[in-house]
Amino acid sequence: MEDVLQIDPDKIPAQELQTYLQAAVAPRPIAFASTIDLEGNINLSPFSFFNVFSTNPPILVFSPSRRVRDNTTKHTLENILEVPEVSISMVTYDMAERMSYASSEFPKAINEFEAAGFAASTSVKIKPPHVAESPVSFECVVEQVIPLGNEGGAGNLVIARVVYMHIRKKHLDHQYKLSNTSLDLVARMGGDYYCRVIPESLFQIKKPG
Ligand SMILES: Cc1cc2nc3c(=O)[nH]c(=O)nc-3n(C[C@H](O)[C@H](O)[C@H](O)COP(=O)(O)O)c2cc1C
Repeated sequence: MEDVLQIDPDKIPAQELQTYLQAAVAPRPIAFASTIDLEGNINLSPFSFFNVFSTNPPILVFSPSRRVRDNTTKHTLENILEVPEVSISMVTYDMAERMSYASSEFPKAINEFEAAGFAASTSVKIKPPHVAESPVSFECVVEQVIPLGNEGGAGNLVIARVVYMHIRKKHLDHQYKLSNTSLDLVARMGGDYYCRVIPESLFQIKKPG
Protein backbone atom coordinates (compact mmCIF):
# COMPACT_ATOMS: atom_id res chain seq x y z
CA MET A 1 0.00 0.00 0.00
CA GLU A 2 1.47 3.28 -1.16
CA ASP A 3 0.17 5.34 1.73
CA VAL A 4 1.60 3.06 4.41
CA LEU A 5 5.25 3.07 5.50
CA GLN A 6 6.16 -0.52 6.19
CA ILE A 7 9.02 -1.17 8.57
CA ASP A 8 10.90 -4.33 9.40
CA PRO A 9 12.47 -3.44 12.78
CA ASP A 10 15.49 -5.64 12.02
CA LYS A 11 16.33 -3.46 9.05
CA ILE A 12 16.53 0.01 10.57
CA PRO A 13 18.95 1.36 13.21
CA ALA A 14 17.74 1.10 16.83
CA GLN A 15 17.94 4.89 17.22
CA GLU A 16 15.48 5.39 14.34
CA LEU A 17 13.20 2.60 15.52
CA GLN A 18 13.08 4.24 18.93
CA THR A 19 11.63 7.47 17.45
CA TYR A 20 8.74 5.56 15.81
CA LEU A 21 8.02 3.46 18.90
CA GLN A 22 8.05 6.40 21.30
CA ALA A 23 5.89 8.69 19.17
CA ALA A 24 3.38 5.94 18.42
CA VAL A 25 3.08 4.36 21.87
CA ALA A 26 1.98 7.51 23.61
CA PRO A 27 1.14 9.08 25.95
CA ARG A 28 3.19 7.04 28.41
CA PRO A 29 2.89 7.62 32.17
CA ILE A 30 6.10 8.51 33.97
CA ALA A 31 7.55 6.62 36.92
CA PHE A 32 9.87 8.77 38.98
CA ALA A 33 11.90 5.92 40.43
CA SER A 34 14.15 6.13 43.47
CA THR A 35 16.63 3.36 44.25
CA ILE A 36 19.62 2.91 46.53
CA ASP A 37 22.90 1.00 46.23
CA LEU A 38 24.66 -1.10 48.88
CA GLU A 39 26.74 1.94 49.97
CA GLY A 40 23.56 3.96 50.55
CA ASN A 41 23.82 6.24 47.48
CA ILE A 42 20.32 7.39 46.56
CA ASN A 43 19.20 7.72 42.94
CA LEU A 44 16.13 9.32 41.36
CA SER A 45 15.35 8.99 37.63
CA PRO A 46 12.26 9.10 35.38
CA PHE A 47 11.08 6.16 33.23
CA SER A 48 8.19 6.27 30.77
CA PHE A 49 8.37 2.63 29.79
CA PHE A 50 6.08 2.17 32.77
CA ASN A 51 2.64 0.91 33.72
CA VAL A 52 0.46 -0.99 36.20
CA PHE A 53 0.12 -4.66 35.19
CA SER A 54 -1.74 -6.32 38.04
CA THR A 55 -4.01 -5.36 40.91
CA ASN A 56 -3.88 -8.51 43.03
CA PRO A 57 -0.97 -8.71 43.60
CA PRO A 58 -0.38 -5.00 42.89
CA ILE A 59 2.36 -4.95 40.25
CA LEU A 60 4.04 -2.01 38.53
CA VAL A 61 6.51 -2.56 35.71
CA PHE A 62 9.09 -0.25 34.19
CA SER A 63 12.19 -0.61 32.07
CA PRO A 64 15.62 0.97 32.49
CA SER A 65 17.13 0.26 29.08
CA ARG A 66 20.68 -0.24 27.91
CA ARG A 67 21.72 3.00 26.24
CA VAL A 68 21.34 2.83 22.45
CA ARG A 69 24.43 5.06 22.22
CA ASP A 70 26.99 2.84 23.94
CA ASN A 71 25.14 -0.13 25.47
CA THR A 72 25.85 1.02 29.06
CA THR A 73 23.35 0.31 31.84
CA LYS A 74 21.64 2.83 34.10
CA HIS A 75 22.27 3.38 37.80
CA THR A 76 18.63 2.54 38.52
CA LEU A 77 19.10 -0.97 37.13
CA GLU A 78 22.45 -1.45 38.86
CA ASN A 79 20.97 -0.32 42.19
CA ILE A 80 17.96 -2.63 41.88
CA LEU A 81 20.26 -5.58 41.26
CA GLU A 82 22.06 -4.67 44.54
CA VAL A 83 19.02 -3.64 46.62
CA PRO A 84 15.77 -4.95 45.09
CA GLU A 85 13.55 -2.08 46.19
CA VAL A 86 12.17 0.98 44.38
CA SER A 87 9.86 3.85 45.17
CA ILE A 88 7.80 5.12 42.26
CA SER A 89 6.36 8.63 42.43
CA MET A 90 3.91 10.02 39.88
CA VAL A 91 4.92 13.22 38.07
CA THR A 92 2.78 16.37 37.92
CA TYR A 93 3.04 19.39 35.63
CA ASP A 94 4.70 21.40 38.42
CA MET A 95 7.38 18.72 38.77
CA ALA A 96 8.03 18.22 35.02
CA GLU A 97 10.99 20.58 34.42
CA ARG A 98 12.85 19.33 37.50
CA MET A 99 11.99 15.72 36.65
CA SER A 100 13.55 16.23 33.22
CA TYR A 101 16.67 17.71 34.85
CA ALA A 102 16.88 14.67 37.13
CA SER A 103 17.22 12.51 34.00
CA SER A 104 20.67 14.03 33.30
CA GLU A 105 23.54 11.59 33.48
CA PHE A 106 24.82 12.50 36.93
CA PRO A 107 27.67 10.50 38.51
CA LYS A 108 26.50 7.75 40.85
CA ALA A 109 27.41 9.68 44.00
CA ILE A 110 25.05 12.53 43.07
CA ASN A 111 21.65 12.36 44.73
CA GLU A 112 19.15 13.62 42.12
CA PHE A 113 16.65 14.62 44.84
CA GLU A 114 19.19 17.27 45.83
CA ALA A 115 20.45 18.05 42.30
CA ALA A 116 16.95 18.60 40.92
CA GLY A 117 15.46 20.20 44.05
CA PHE A 118 13.00 17.61 45.28
CA ALA A 119 12.30 16.84 48.94
CA ALA A 120 12.83 13.21 49.95
CA SER A 121 10.21 11.58 52.19
CA THR A 122 11.33 8.57 54.21
CA SER A 123 9.62 5.41 53.07
CA VAL A 124 7.91 3.07 55.53
CA LYS A 125 8.78 -0.40 54.22
CA ILE A 126 11.73 0.14 51.87
CA LYS A 127 15.04 1.99 52.02
CA PRO A 128 14.74 4.34 48.99
CA PRO A 129 12.85 7.53 49.88
CA HIS A 130 10.03 8.87 47.68
CA VAL A 131 9.31 12.31 46.24
CA ALA A 132 7.51 14.47 48.79
CA GLU A 133 6.07 16.79 46.11
CA SER A 134 4.35 13.93 44.27
CA PRO A 135 0.60 13.39 44.80
CA VAL A 136 0.98 9.60 44.77
CA SER A 137 3.99 7.43 45.59
CA PHE A 138 4.35 3.66 45.73
CA GLU A 139 6.86 1.71 47.78
CA CYS A 140 7.78 -1.45 45.89
CA VAL A 141 9.78 -4.62 46.34
CA VAL A 142 11.35 -5.82 43.10
CA GLU A 143 10.25 -9.38 42.34
CA GLN A 144 12.01 -9.96 39.03
CA VAL A 145 14.26 -8.23 36.54
CA ILE A 146 13.97 -9.69 33.05
CA PRO A 147 16.68 -8.58 30.59
CA LEU A 148 15.03 -8.22 27.17
CA GLY A 149 18.31 -8.33 25.20
CA ASN A 150 22.02 -7.60 25.39
CA GLU A 151 22.44 -4.86 22.83
CA GLY A 152 22.02 -1.10 22.98
CA GLY A 153 18.34 -0.23 23.39
CA ALA A 154 17.47 -3.49 25.16
CA GLY A 155 15.05 -2.98 28.01
CA ASN A 156 15.21 -4.59 31.43
CA LEU A 157 11.72 -5.33 32.62
CA VAL A 158 11.52 -4.56 36.32
CA ILE A 159 8.54 -6.26 37.95
CA ALA A 160 7.82 -4.47 41.21
CA ARG A 161 5.21 -5.35 43.86
CA VAL A 162 3.61 -2.44 45.68
CA VAL A 163 3.98 -2.87 49.43
CA TYR A 164 2.88 0.60 50.59
CA MET A 165 1.19 3.66 49.07
CA HIS A 166 1.17 7.40 49.85
CA ILE A 167 -1.69 9.52 48.46
CA ARG A 168 -2.08 13.23 49.19
CA LYS A 169 -5.52 13.63 50.69
CA LYS A 170 -6.27 16.84 48.78
CA HIS A 171 -6.63 14.70 45.64
CA LEU A 172 -9.30 12.44 47.13
CA ASP A 173 -13.00 13.06 46.60
CA HIS A 174 -15.63 12.77 49.34
CA GLN A 175 -15.68 8.98 48.90
CA TYR A 176 -11.90 8.84 49.36
CA LYS A 177 -11.40 8.00 45.68
CA LEU A 178 -8.64 9.53 43.57
CA SER A 179 -9.94 12.15 41.18
CA ASN A 180 -8.80 12.01 37.53
CA THR A 181 -8.82 15.74 37.15
CA SER A 182 -7.07 16.79 40.32
CA LEU A 183 -3.66 15.16 39.90
CA ASP A 184 -2.39 17.26 36.95
CA LEU A 185 -0.22 14.37 35.79
CA VAL A 186 2.09 14.58 32.79
CA ALA A 187 2.98 11.86 30.32
CA ARG A 188 5.72 11.35 27.76
CA MET A 189 5.19 11.51 24.01
CA GLY A 190 7.77 11.23 21.20
CA GLY A 191 10.90 13.41 21.10
CA ASP A 192 10.84 16.24 23.62
CA TYR A 193 7.04 16.31 23.81
CA TYR A 194 4.96 15.76 26.92
CA CYS A 195 1.25 15.98 27.49
CA ARG A 196 -0.65 17.25 30.50
CA VAL A 197 -3.87 15.76 31.83
CA ILE A 198 -6.27 18.70 31.93
CA PRO A 199 -10.09 18.55 32.13
CA GLU A 200 -10.48 19.78 28.49
CA SER A 201 -8.63 16.74 27.15
CA LEU A 202 -10.71 14.19 29.07
CA PHE A 203 -13.89 12.46 27.92
CA GLN A 204 -15.99 9.64 29.27
CA ILE A 205 -17.28 6.45 27.67
CA LYS A 206 -19.79 4.51 29.73
CA LYS A 207 -18.97 0.82 30.05
CA PRO A 208 -21.04 -1.23 27.63
CA GLY A 209 -23.79 -3.48 29.05
C1 LIG B 1 10.31 11.61 30.88
C2 LIG B 1 11.46 10.67 30.73
C3 LIG B 1 11.22 9.33 30.57
C4 LIG B 1 12.28 8.41 30.44
N1 LIG B 1 12.00 7.09 30.29
C5 LIG B 1 13.01 6.20 30.22
C6 LIG B 1 12.73 4.79 30.13
O1 LIG B 1 11.58 4.35 30.13
N2 LIG B 1 13.79 3.95 30.09
C7 LIG B 1 15.07 4.39 30.13
O2 LIG B 1 15.99 3.58 30.10
N3 LIG B 1 15.36 5.71 30.23
C8 LIG B 1 14.36 6.62 30.29
N4 LIG B 1 14.65 7.95 30.41
C9 LIG B 1 16.05 8.37 30.53
C10 LIG B 1 16.57 8.16 31.95
O3 LIG B 1 15.81 8.90 32.88
C11 LIG B 1 18.04 8.62 32.01
O4 LIG B 1 18.80 7.73 31.20
C12 LIG B 1 18.63 8.70 33.38
O5 LIG B 1 19.90 9.32 33.29
C13 LIG B 1 18.83 7.34 34.03
O6 LIG B 1 19.41 7.61 35.28
P1 LIG B 1 20.23 6.58 36.13
O7 LIG B 1 21.45 6.15 35.33
O8 LIG B 1 20.57 7.38 37.33
O9 LIG B 1 19.31 5.42 36.42
C14 LIG B 1 13.61 8.89 30.48
C15 LIG B 1 13.86 10.27 30.64
C16 LIG B 1 12.80 11.15 30.75
C17 LIG B 1 13.07 12.61 30.93
